[in-house]
Amino acid sequence: MTEYAVRAEAIRKRYGDTYALDGFDLAVRTGTVHGLLGPNGAGKTTAVRALATLLKLDGGRATVAGVDVSRDPRGVRSLIGLTGQYAAVDEILTGRQNLEMFGRLFHLGGRRAALRAGELLERFDLVEAADKGVGGYSGGMRRRLDLAASMILAPRVLFLDEPTTGLDPRGRGEVWDAVRSLVANGTTVLLTTQYLDEADKLASHITLIDQGRAIADDTPAELKNTVGGDLIEVVVYESRELPAAAQVLARVASAPPGTDPETRRVHAPVADRVAALTEVARELRDRGIAVEDIGLRRPSLDDVFLRLTGRRTEAAPAPEKTEVAA
Ligand SMILES: Nc1ncnc2c1ncn2[C@@H]1O[C@H](COP(=O)(O)OP(=O)(O)OP(=O)(O)O)[C@@H](O)[C@H]1O
Ligand SMILES: [Mg+2]
Repeated sequence: MTEYAVRAEAIRKRYGDTYALDGFDLAVRTGTVHGLLGPNGAGKTTAVRALATLLKLDGGRATVAGVDVSRDPRGVRSLIGLTGQYAAVDEILTGRQNLEMFGRLFHLGGRRAALRAGELLERFDLVEAADKGVGGYSGGMRRRLDLAASMILAPRVLFLDEPTTGLDPRGRGEVWDAVRSLVANGTTVLLTTQYLDEADKLASHITLIDQGRAIADDTPAELKNTVGGDLIEVVVYESRELPAAAQVLARVASAPPGTDPETRRVHAPVADRVAALTEVARELRDRGIAVEDIGLRRPSLDDVFLRLTGRRTEAAPAPEKTEVAA
């Protein structure tokens, strides 16, 4: 078995004047979940489609399980599964019928297709819903069926393009469980996402992509450390009190605080979460600074991105609170 299930070296893909991939590098260790994390338009889907041989490269070199994607695309296709950003299952059919149909598309023959469908329905916890129309499935059930469909031939490498976008927390959790069970069964997974917390939960390694290039490649813990720890965030009632609040935060922070006058928000990374929160709350009260909200949150993709590039991702998601004391 090759050490790297997926390797890309300086790959390029051009659309008109823009390079969607502009010298992108990637190395995915066999048997792991690798996260490809980046904002809208960063090049995630292009990378996945190129590695899955659905797009021709304009430069560079890539291999999947040691097989060159440009020289032997058929060879690569026999080793991989792909679940796209948009689901491919048929609404009219039941879950079981969908899987059997995919099995026959892959020339399994009726009996083997039915057997495989049964196994996959069990593995992805869809036995109860198996004979119901997919039109009535929840978002999480559909994504799991989509995952099952891409597993018909038990691929060595599975590409998942934003498998949980648009799902509620429960649906996301269900998909995460399904991905974990795939990896436990020996599949290597390359997963794209816009959420640091998702990559954090699933991936042992993350590549951050921006404008077609890898701008960071590390473990989730190390990526979060580039921000300098969890963040303490304070919303003051009056923006004129922001500088004073920033001073208070600076005393406990591991990096200079950032302020946003528009939202009356000041935030800074802290090493010791709870002690910092307690001290900041007391100090703000002692100085008579009126506070609308105070809390701790984990670094988001936007925080990591800002630290590495000096820019914000375009659609920064609302900060996710992990604890609130006010
Ligand atoms: N078929 C195409 N024709 C022209 N430009 C394209 C095409 N596909 C992608 N692009 C451009 O290439 C860049 C990368 O797009 P890509 O879809 O790979 O990004 P992404 O990271 O998957 O984004 P998202 O998070 O929105 O899915 C973008 O600037 C996009 O506009
Ligand atoms: Mg995409």
